[in-house]
Amino acid sequence: MSLSSRTVVVVLCFLFVLAPYLTRATTDELQARCDSHSFNNGKHFRSCVDLPVLDSFLHFSYVRETGVLEVAYRHINVDSSSWIAWGINPTSKGMSGAKTLLAYRNSTSGVMRVYTSSIKGYSPTLQEGPLSFRVLQLSGEYLNGEMTIFATIVLPSNITVVNHLWQDGPLKEGDRLGMHAMSGDHLKSTATLDLLSGQVTASKAANDNMLLVKKIHGLVNAVCWGIFMPIGVIAARFSTDTCPQSKTGQGA
Ligand SMILES: *[C@@H]1O[C@H](CO)[C@@H](O)[C@H](O)[C@H]1NC(C)=O
Ligand SMILES: *[C@@H]1O[C@H](CO)[C@@H](O)[C@H](O)[C@H]1NC(C)=O
Repeated sequence: MSLSSRTVVVVLCFLFVLAPYLTRATTDELQARCDSHSFNNGKHFRSCVDLPVLDSFLHFSYVRETGVLEVAYRHINVDSSSWIAWGINPTSKGMSGAKTLLAYRNSTSGVMRVYTSSIKGYSPTLQEGPLSFRVLQLSGEYLNGEMTIFATIVLPSNITVVNHLWQDGPLKEGDRLGMHAMSGDHLKSTATLDLLSGQVTASKAANDNMLLVKKIHGLVNAVCWGIFMPIGVIAARFSTDTCPQSKTGQGA
């Protein structure tokens, strides 16, 4: 490689490495990753998962010994006349039997209403009712098209994996909760959540392609930083004669 082609490679590497940071500011990418989110109320959670559908994220901290699970379920791109829900289903993967947390914004007062509801059957009324486990510190927030439910729930101790589900639907006149859509992503919003690792096993692996892109990006970055950058630095600092790589290159 000549000095100038090396310079080109270094510049390309630089652009490649910097590109995500340059474009991120102007895209939703930052918003679409749970680990880059910080809550206005200063709450911190140890783990988070980007849920595969419905623009949703689950942030949580779990203590296995006590069963105390602090969660924030966050749904972006929702309008103020929507309700959101997140729940755990101890008995099955579906909706029936789920223990849910619901939230919506009161259309008159603008105050968030957050409550619990145990779901029986497949056309639930979503009425307020107690869950089979304790729920502490329930609160909600709606800001800039983002609705969040905060809660601390106490699961039976030693649970490590749960079925969870999430949903959104429209708020009807008089703040009645309308039925959620019965198609597409609204029927895929359930997964298995590993409370210890923070890994989510989605019913549909929607993030696989993105993961591959990230892996390739990471690999190319590593190659750029690990190999080309030092060569570039050497090339810039010393004449081509003192750079052993360039000698073999020129001799070939
Ligand atoms: C919404 O807020 C108004 C005013 O505080 C209250 O009268 C009304 O009952 C609330 N609606 C619901 C559905 O909670
Ligand atoms: C929780 O699980 C661990 C490991 O399986 C076990 O050693 C411990 O006794 C269990 N604790 C309770 C309270 O069941």
